[in-house]
Amino acid sequence: MENNMYPFVNLPLPYDYDALEPYIDTRTMEIHHDRQLQSYIDRLNLILKDYPVLQQMTLEELIINADNLSEGLRIPIRNYAGGVYNHRFYFDGLQRPSDLTPKNTLLEVINGQFGNFYNFQDVVKKAGMGVFGSGYTWLVFDKEKVKVITTPNQNCPIAQGYCIIFALDVWEHAYYLQHYNLRGNYIDDWFRVVNWEKANQLYLECLIDYQEIGIRRRNQGKGFNNGMTER
Ligand SMILES: [Fe+2]
Repeated sequence: MENNMYPFVNLPLPYDYDALEPYIDTRTMEIHHDRQLQSYIDRLNLILKDYPVLQQMTLEELIINADNLSEGLRIPIRNYAGGVYNHRFYFDGLQRPSDLTPKNTLLEVINGQFGNFYNFQDVVKKAGMGVFGSGYTWLVFDKEKVKVITTPNQNCPIAQGYCIIFALDVWEHAYYLQHYNLRGNYIDDWFRVVNWEKANQLYLECLIDYQEIGIRRRNQGKGFNNGMTER
């Protein structure tokens, strides 16, 4: 990940603010990226300002090691480093609207595990609808399988040693301007702008990582109980 060490900056979106119209509106993207993500970046930089040792850690290392930090740092680092990482993952996983479903290795895996792509969409949607309050739904790689999981707040699955394939932000700020309180409609629309090529590429990278350094990577994430729910 680019710019993954202090000082953090808000990297531009890999597409225009209006690129996801009509499924995710321009104003939501402007506020989500320029204000919400910016505020996580500003707060993370402010926290790290007085901790040179933490400034030498990557964003991933901050998240993975959050539970080993002092009590006063543990939750702020989990929230703000997670907020930066999770949002970057979410934004980078989107593209202009497409009717395409994955037609690649990832689709074969999804079909193999969920029966077909529509069953998979249903599992993702139900998981997203089931997040109480704010959080995320993820597709992660675990032990040669994919898994749909959820996390509350800005908790991140890499803290548990999972390799992420996609992130679905279900905080209200991701959809309220256009979809009001109808999270299910937002999730349906979000499926129209998922970058499946990117997801497939990440799946393949997860597979290689698992085959080469799986045990080591998983042991790095000693993990805290971050409220993760498996589907
Ligand atoms: Fe968000």
